[in-house]
Amino acid sequence: MTLPKRYLVTAALPYANGLKHVGHLAGAYLPADIYARYLRAQKRDVAFVCGSDEHGTAIPIQAMKEHTTPQAIIDKYHEITRQNFEDLGISFDIYHRTSAPIHHETAREFFTVLNNAGELETKETEQYYDIKAGSFLADRYIKGTCPNCGFNGAYGDQCEKCGASLSPDELINPVSTLSGEPPVKKKTTHWYLPLNRHEEFLRNWIVGEHGNDWRANVVGQCKSWIDGGLQPRAVTRDLDWGIEVPVAGADGKVLYVWFDAPIGYISATRQWALDNNRDWHPYWNDKDTKLVHFIGKDNIVFHCIIFPVMLKLHGNILPDNVPANEFLNLEGDKMSTSRNWKLDMQDYINDFVKKENGGGGLVDALRYYLTQIAPETKDSEFTWKGFQDAANSELTDIFGNFVNRAMVLMHKLTGGKVPPLHTDALTEADRDMLAQLAKTAGTVEGLIENYKFREAQFEVIDLARIGNRYLQTKEPWKKVKETGDDGKPTAAAQQNIDNTLHICLQTCANLAILVNPFLPHTARKMLHMFKVVEKMLDWENAGKTKLLSVGYSLRAPELLFRKIEDEEISYQVEKLRNNSIRPGATGVPDASTPAGNIAADNDTANLKPQTANLKPTVQFDDFAKIDLRAGTIVHAEKVEKADKLLKLTIDMGVETRTIVSGIAQHFKPEDLTGQQVVVVANLAPRKMRGIESNGMILMASGENGRLHFIRPQEHIQPGAEIN
Ligand code: MF3
Ligand code: ZN
Repeated sequence: MTLPKRYLVTAALPYANGLKHVGHLAGAYLPADIYARYLRAQKRDVAFVCGSDEHGTAIPIQAMKEHTTPQAIIDKYHEITRQNFEDLGISFDIYHRTSAPIHHETAREFFTVLNNAGELETKETEQYYDIKAGSFLADRYIKGTCPNCGFNGAYGDQCEKCGASLSPDELINPVSTLSGEPPVKKKTTHWYLPLNRHEEFLRNWIVGEHGNDWRANVVGQCKSWIDGGLQPRAVTRDLDWGIEVPVAGADGKVLYVWFDAPIGYISATRQWALDNNRDWHPYWNDKDTKLVHFIGKDNIVFHCIIFPVMLKLHGNILPDNVPANEFLNLEGDKMSTSRNWKLDMQDYINDFVKKENGGGGLVDALRYYLTQIAPETKDSEFTWKGFQDAANSELTDIFGNFVNRAMVLMHKLTGGKVPPLHTDALTEADRDMLAQLAKTAGTVEGLIENYKFREAQFEVIDLARIGNRYLQTKEPWKKVKETGDDGKPTAAAQQNIDNTLHICLQTCANLAILVNPFLPHTARKMLHMFKVVEKMLDWENAGKTKLLSVGYSLRAPELLFRKIEDEEISYQVEKLRNNSIRPGATGVPDASTPAGNIAADNDTANLKPQTANLKPTVQFDDFAKIDLRAGTIVHAEKVEKADKLLKLTIDMGVETRTIVSGIAQHFKPEDLTGQQVVVVANLAPRKMRGIESNGMILMASGENGRLHFIRPQEHIQPGAEIN
C-alpha cells in the first residue's frame, strides 16, 4: 500500500442554532478526532477541519424563538460549541465559520465557476410569498392544517403532530408565520444543480469504485437514491439570510445552505493554511490527498451525491471515504432536541468535567463509552448504567488497574526503577506477552485505518486485560517470598520478578501509545508517570518492547480514572426524565439527531433554565387519581395552642367539610370568608390537634415565602370538578 501524501479530515459543520448533544459527538466529531490523532501520531500530513454552519432558515427561526437577531444566534452558539469541542478534546486544526468573509468569497467563486460553465440550470416556479412582509416564504415559515392528520399547526415542510413530511402546497389554509396573513403565489427563478446529468458518474464512482470499501449502509443509501432517479436540486433560495447569489439581478436570493455549507470545508482549509503559512491548494486539488468526511447518516446524500458532483464540476478531488454513523439513542428512546430527550455536551461538561480538578479522566470516560457504543453499523444506545459500567468495570478495573498494579509493584519490588530484562530467564508467558505487543499494535492500526474505531478500542483494552492475566500468572508478589539465607529473594526469583515488571512496564508504554487517539488525557497522564516526552507516543513506537529504559526511575502512580457512583447515575436519569417534554404534550415529532440536519429538530427547548428541583415524573394515570374540586370558605377560626393552623369550614356543594390548614401566619380568619379555593377532595383524612382534616387547599408560594390562594378566575359552583 502506498500512502497518500496528505490527509484532509472533515467533520460535518454543526448548525450554530443550539446546543449539540452527545449523539452529534459520537456520530461525527469523536470518530474524526480519533482518526486525526492517529494520523498525527503516524507523522502523516493531516488537516482536520470543521466549523459552524451559520446559514439556512434554522438560524433566523432560532433568532425568532430567542427574540434576537440571527447574528446574535450564530455568535452565541458558535462560541459555545467551539468551546464544548475543545473541552472534550476534539483536536480540530481549525474550527471555522461560514459567516467569515473568506467563506462567502469561496462559495461565490464556486457557484460562479459552475454557473459560467453551464453546469447549472435556471427554472421559474411559483412560490408562496407574504405581501405584507414583502418576502418569499421558506417552507418552515408557512403554517397550516395537516392534510394527513388535521393538526392545524403543521409546517410547510413537516407536520410535527403526525411526523408526515409535507410540501407547502399540501397545507390546508396556509398562513405566513411572519405576518399571520395567508400567503399568495408569486413567480420566482432559481438555479438548479442537474443531478440527473451525473447519474452514470455517481453509479460508477460509488457502487463501482467504492462498493466494497465504503460502509454498506452508505453505499446502500446512495444506491437507492440513484436507483430512484436523481432530480435537479435547487441551489438558491429566496431568503434574506445567507450568501448572496453572485449574479446581477438576483437580489434577495441566497445560496441554499446545503450548497454553501460543504464548501465551508474548503474555506476552513484556506483559513487554516493562511494561519499556518501553508498552501491549501493541494489539499483540494491534488489526487494524492486522501479526503475523508465524517458525518451522521442523515447527511449521506449531501456528502456522497450532491457535494461530490459539485467537486467534480469544480475540478476538485473527491472523498476517499465517508464513514457515516447511524443514530445514537438514549435510555430507550430516540435522542431529540425538541423533546429535550438528550444529553448535551454542555451538560456533561458542567456535571462531570468541571467538577473534576483537571486531569481529563472524565472527558476520557465519555470518549471511551461513546466509542464503545459507536453506532458504526447500526443504531446503538447510550444508557447511564452502560456509561457507569464502561467507566468502572473496564476503564478503572481493567486498564487503570493494570497500569496501577505495574507501577505499584515496580516501586515495591524493583526499587522504583525499570528492572532489566534477563533474556536467558524468559518464560513462555513472558515471550507470549512480549509478542502480544506487536500483535495488538498491528491489529489496532488496521482497524483504525478502516474506520473501525469501536473494535480498535476494544483491542486496546484487551491488551490491558491480557496484561492483568499475565501478571496474575507470574505472581511477582509470591516470587518475592522465595528467599535465600540472606532473607532476600533468590537470584532466580529476582530475575523472574525483574522480567515480569520489565514486561509489564513496556506493556504500559504500549498502552499509552495505543490509547492516545481515543483517550488523549490518559495517554498524557501516563507519560507523566513514566517521565517521558510526548515523542514516545509516535505510532512507530507501537509494538516496540524497549520503550522505557532499564534503570530509569519512574514517578509514583497516579490514578487514571475515578469510579462513577450510583448516585451520579440516578441523578442523571432523573434529570433526563424530569426535563424532557413528553411526546403528545407538545405534538412534536421524534426526529432523532445524529450529526443531525433535520430542520424540525433544531429548536432548543432546553435553553431556558429548567424548573428547579422537580419531583420525579408521575404517570398521567397517577395524576388522574387526584380529585380536585372548587370550594368556598364559609368560616375560618384559629386552632387553639397552634399558632400556624386555621380551621376552615368549606362549602363543597353537596357537603360541608372541615379542613385544617397551616396558613394562620399569612391570613386573618375574618378575611377568608367567601374566598374560593381549590380543594384536594379525596386526600385521606388526618387528625391535627384533635381535629379531623378532610382534604387540602392548594396554595402557591411566592416571593419571600408568601402564600397565595389558587382560585377559579371567576366565582364558580362549589363542588365543580377541576381537571
Ligand atoms: N449543518 C449540517 C447538520 O448539522 C451539516 C452540514 S455538513 C456540511 O446536519 F458539509 F454541509 F458542512
Ligand atoms: Zn399531521
